Amino acid sequence: MSDTPALYEGKAKILYPTEDPDVLLTYFKDDATAFNAQKKGTIVDKGIINCEITTHLFKLIAQKGISTHYIDRPSPREMRVKAVQIIPLEVVVRNIAAGSLCKQTGLAIGTVLPQPLVEFYYKDDAMGDPLLTLDRLYLINAATAAEVAELQTKALEIDRILTDFFGQCGITLVDFKLEFGIDKSGQILLADEISPDSCRLWLADESDPVKRILDKDRFRQDLGQVENAYQQVLDRVRSHS
Ligand code: TMP
Repeated sequence: MSDTPALYEGKAKILYPTEDPDVLLTYFKDDATAFNAQKKGTIVDKGIINCEITTHLFKLIAQKGISTHYIDRPSPREMRVKAVQIIPLEVVVRNIAAGSLCKQTGLAIGTVLPQPLVEFYYKDDAMGDPLLTLDRLYLINAATAAEVAELQTKALEIDRILTDFFGQCGITLVDFKLEFGIDKSGQILLADEISPDSCRLWLADESDPVKRILDKDRFRQDLGQVENAYQQVLDRVRSHS
């Protein structure tokens, strides 16, 4: 962990400045929260695991032509990233119904969606990250119409890349959350992380609805074997990278 005072501390990561104003250092913590931090805990070595998984996935996404803020990984829990202005939206892509989609629509968990669903949530902990309509998003100037179109295109392309990659790993990508930022040249970059904290990942060849879960739902729902699940995702991602 850097000695420099942090720029920002979030629930799972700390952001530090570096000597270069265009570069920041992200430190991945073991802290885990759920339900807007009403539930708190620790997942041993989560920071190391999520930092490595994010590194593999950001490199893969960049190879496929989508720019990310990733620069390198100077230590197991640290990632150097390009400084960006984060767009205050959580972009969620869903392939299979789970989580809040089931709660809010009545769709049965596991329902395969006819096409991927892209949703925008307002990134504001005090408000509990509410789901936005496009009109509300424009009303509060969270992004422009051109930015929304670009986010949607990038999110769907990332979904194709990750669905294919996780499929090779024997894992079904149920849904996931992305964050994007704008760099000093005005380019939109994929930012934050992609890990079992921010995705729902199910073992493809396991039909048991609890045994198949390899993501933060194990922590959210007190299902046990959380560390084991995160490690399994890392092992599979590593061996297919
Ligand atoms: P949801 O079904 O609870 O809306 O979650 C959809 C996806 O977004 C799921 O893969 C978990 C991820 N997610 C986050 O990364 N951060 C959050 O704060 C929430 C609520 C969900």
